[in-house]
Amino acid sequence: MKIVRAADYEEMSRRAAGVIAAQVILNPASVLGLATGGTPVGAYEQLAIWHKNGDLDFSGVTSVNLDEYCGLEGTHPQSYRYFMQKNLFDHVNIPAENTHLPSGTADPAAECARYEALINSLGGIDMQLLGIGHNGHIGFNEPGPAFERDTHAVTLSAETIHANARFFVSADEVPRQALTMGMGAIMKAKRVLLVASGTEKADILDRALNGPITPEVPASILQLHPDLTVVTGGI
Ligand code: F6R
Repeated sequence: MKIVRAADYEEMSRRAAGVIAAQVILNPASVLGLATGGTPVGAYEQLAIWHKNGDLDFSGVTSVNLDEYCGLEGTHPQSYRYFMQKNLFDHVNIPAENTHLPSGTADPAAECARYEALINSLGGIDMQLLGIGHNGHIGFNEPGPAFERDTHAVTLSAETIHANARFFVSADEVPRQALTMGMGAIMKAKRVLLVASGTEKADILDRALNGPITPEVPASILQLHPDLTVVTGGI
């Protein structure tokens, strides 16, 4: 495990973007596993700047995102498809047909099977970017009795609904269910890049990286990953 402690969010974003950029430069045909949420926004901004300046070419890249809310069309402003378009895809040259997220409006069971098969057909993920929830979730793999291997539908925890309500008008509008990549695809990624920012993530990050490996703290499974880089900001 490699830990990079950046002083603040801006430095964390630059350092994380640097790791992703190096991945794309060394392997222009990379399959990038991408995340939404507040933490990676600054890194996406930096990648867009490097692309705009002509220093970073995404034309050979394929992306697979971690998760999507059930019931939201990709055009819905709170959908993760919309988030990715706005924060990254509209600003770089990843071919549109090579950007993948689970569909929130398809039949959940069929969509989970399709998404799992898609990731496998791509040969798995070269680098997976992750944030961490206050409850230790990665993707929407919520705390529970077991690690789930495959893409699956989840009922979001009260804590996650509360945390994500900031993106909606009210907590009532946060979808209760989501589809998420499972731990299998995440752990099989050749490299994992975990970003976490702010003192409110310090405790859960410490439990994830130094505590017991348990599905009650889903991110703790990353202790077993052979190529994990953690970039923190202000922690
Ligand atoms: C998002 C995702 C989530 C977030 C996590 C942290 O695609 O999979 O696991 O990474 O909830 O979110 P932020 O960055 O908003 O604190």
